[in-house]
Amino acid sequence: MTHTTPGPGSVALITGGTGGFGRALAARLREGGVTVVLADLDSERNRSVAADLGCGFAVLDVTDRAANRAVVEQVEAEHGRLDAVFLNAGIAGFDSDELLDVDGFLRVLDVDLLGVVYGTAAALPALQRAGGGAIVVTASLAGLSPMATDPGYSVAKGGAVAFVRSMAPRLAAEGITVTAVCPGFADTAIIDPIRAEFQKAGFPVLTAGEVADAMLAAWASGEPGAAYIVQPGIGAVPYRFKGVPSARTATGETAVVPEALRPPSMR
Ligand SMILES: NC(=O)c1ccc[n+]([C@@H]2O[C@H](COP(=O)([O-])OP(=O)(O)OC[C@H]3O[C@@H](n4cnc5c(N)ncnc54)[C@H](O)[C@@H]3O)[C@@H](O)[C@H]2O)c1
Repeated sequence: MTHTTPGPGSVALITGGTGGFGRALAARLREGGVTVVLADLDSERNRSVAADLGCGFAVLDVTDRAANRAVVEQVEAEHGRLDAVFLNAGIAGFDSDELLDVDGFLRVLDVDLLGVVYGTAAALPALQRAGGGAIVVTASLAGLSPMATDPGYSVAKGGAVAFVRSMAPRLAAEGITVTAVCPGFADTAIIDPIRAEFQKAGFPVLTAGEVADAMLAAWASGEPGAAYIVQPGIGAVPYRFKGVPSARTATGETAVVPEALRPPSMR
């Protein structure tokens, strides 16, 4: 029997799981009978959020590479398997007035990009043992279009999208679907410093529930390597990348990338 789709018997891990999107997703997964572990920074508040949702709690700072592995081991030891991982922990960096705050830039990269890489590396063996599964990365619209007020965030999220697209073919060959969800602004704690500006301008922001629906759909039916835009009034739609021009040979023909440089599924 396979549990790689959401339902009773399947096990999901959500990083940054006690935040706005994490809680909304956890509630939906629990309704569907999924066993859920929320991984987040250690606090009484975070532990009780998990308990109130009927979820397990694992202490995790996603920037700690070894801790990512330990959490996956903990989930497998307690629940026997791991079917889906939501790499959702994230911070914004828009609290500096400097033109380029390099410390802030690196901090965002550490959490929002390297946290995704470490989380993926930690989860892979467990997903393989489960016979396949899903990795859903919470990127952002800021990963697909520049964010002038927060370049570190844009770079981290753009990097996360590029990572998902680059990893997808080889993971698909292992039965693991990796996708990115790219929400516009949504009503969670992360927008606390700028919420008033949206309200003043009458600018629509997503609910956490709308984003959770997209995250769940990405597990249930996501296409490998897809980046799903989520915007108010639009819902979740795959972003269509334009691609880049191919190299041309001396005779003007389209050059084909050497077979050895392509993933097995594309040879
Ligand atoms: N709310 C938005 O407007 C919006 C839009 C696009 C993308 N996102 C992304 O969605 C994800 C979830 O954010 P949210 O909106 O629910 O905000 P949130 O602040 O409510 O949740 C973020 C969670 O990540 C956790 N976290 C932060 N640093 C961590 C670390 N080092 N290790 C482990 N956990 C850590 C926090 O404790 C928190 O629970 C983030 O990756 C964020 O960048 C948010």
